[in-house]
Amino acid sequence: MPKYASPEEQKIENLRSNKLVDEAPYHPGYEDAAVMMSDKGYEEANLADAIRFKMRRDKKRFWAGDNISDYVSEADKEVLINEAAGFIGGETLLKLVDAGYDVLAIDRIMPPGHLIPVPCQWHTGDFSTELGLDAIKRFCPDAIIHCAGTSLVGPSIANPEEYYNNNFIKTKILLDYLIKNHDKKVRFIFSSSAATYGNPIITPVQEVDPTEPISPYGQSKLMIDWMLQSYRHAYGLDFVSFRYFNACGADSQGRHGQAPEATHIIARILESVRDHKDFILYGSDYATPDGTCIRDYIHVEDLATAHITAVDRSIPSDIYNLGTNTGYSNLEVIRSAAQITGVNIPVLHGPKRDGDPSQLTADASKFMKVSAWQPKFVMTDIINHVWKWYNK
Ligand SMILES: NC(=O)c1ccc[n+]([C@@H]2O[C@H](COP(=O)([O-])OP(=O)(O)OC[C@H]3O[C@@H](n4cnc5c(N)ncnc54)[C@H](O)[C@@H]3O)[C@@H](O)[C@H]2O)c1
Repeated sequence: MPKYASPEEQKIENLRSNKLVDEAPYHPGYEDAAVMMSDKGYEEANLADAIRFKMRRDKKRFWAGDNISDYVSEADKEVLINEAAGFIGGETLLKLVDAGYDVLAIDRIMPPGHLIPVPCQWHTGDFSTELGLDAIKRFCPDAIIHCAGTSLVGPSIANPEEYYNNNFIKTKILLDYLIKNHDKKVRFIFSSSAATYGNPIITPVQEVDPTEPISPYGQSKLMIDWMLQSYRHAYGLDFVSFRYFNACGADSQGRHGQAPEATHIIARILESVRDHKDFILYGSDYATPDGTCIRDYIHVEDLATAHITAVDRSIPSDIYNLGTNTGYSNLEVIRSAAQITGVNIPVLHGPKRDGDPSQLTADASKFMKVSAWQPKFVMTDIINHVWKWYNK
């Protein structure tokens, strides 16, 4: 390869010969591009990575000698998604890439096969370790979507240490790191939970209602919500915390969905249909019109779009419920699943479970008022998409 006195000369030479020096964006490996860029004196391999991904996304080619800043536009935002291999994080990753963001995806497990082709940078490891924090520092995100967490209510009662550690302590490590070391002002978007409310007396629940979590899981999320508020007050941390209600559904294009054996009712019903097993319904004498519990189910794609909406700093830093303002009873969910699958679902009646409130629905109007976000999907979409995902 000829050597030029400066990148500028090289650029002119290449423009004159109208020659594409590399077609890395269309190459299976892309490593060539990074090597080539460092040959050209761009020593920041990380920046080279970012450019490769940006080029791949934009289907651009680059010319030897091009100035890196030609490719790095101020308008482009870098977003980190923590928990990218998980249910909500994986869907948010897809939507971020669809929307054209540069994404660093972190998860302590390897990406599942269906997410491997997604054009983003991956870091496999715990976000709170030295390596994880270093990856974040090098990527230097404008926004962090922090979904990583351990999230089962029952196991959190049996093993609270894991929950306070993985949810609270590790998030504190990340936040402390950000306020001390991050070069850019970062927006922190957090996966909180309706579990922070405990068993609310009045539904739909509003953000101002009492927070009385009944499990270490809910407590660990509430502790983070408190920490976010006091870090904003003391250090100017810019955050949005979303209290999700029941996340469910699957990607409408069939690209992502929940891992097998999820614990919520829609997964249990559809897995019992798929595996020809009985479905156990816990409790049918609640104080609701048909006697079964009522919950607010929010499609994972609606959650993902809410997170992307919140990357925009014009959304005020605050805590918001994310739900649909609508409740479905367990029997309504079963009927909907029977209709979509065409299978008559055999139901066994089990006892009520401790701590299950009869009704839990969100008043999500606060977030709708500050943004253009609206949930798009209803129960039939949710079941349709999950059923397609299970049968893929
Ligand atoms: N699914 C729901 O209905 C729901 C409701 C309310 C809140 N949330 C919250 O949303 C978030 C995402 O939930 P989900 O259902 O997608 O979870 P999930 O169980 O599908 O995925 C969790 C992912 O987080 C990763 N992870 C956990 N700790 C990590 C760490 N320290 N470093 C790196 N990766 C880590 C795991 O490897 C896993 O891939 C969680 O924080 C959860 O508490 C979920």
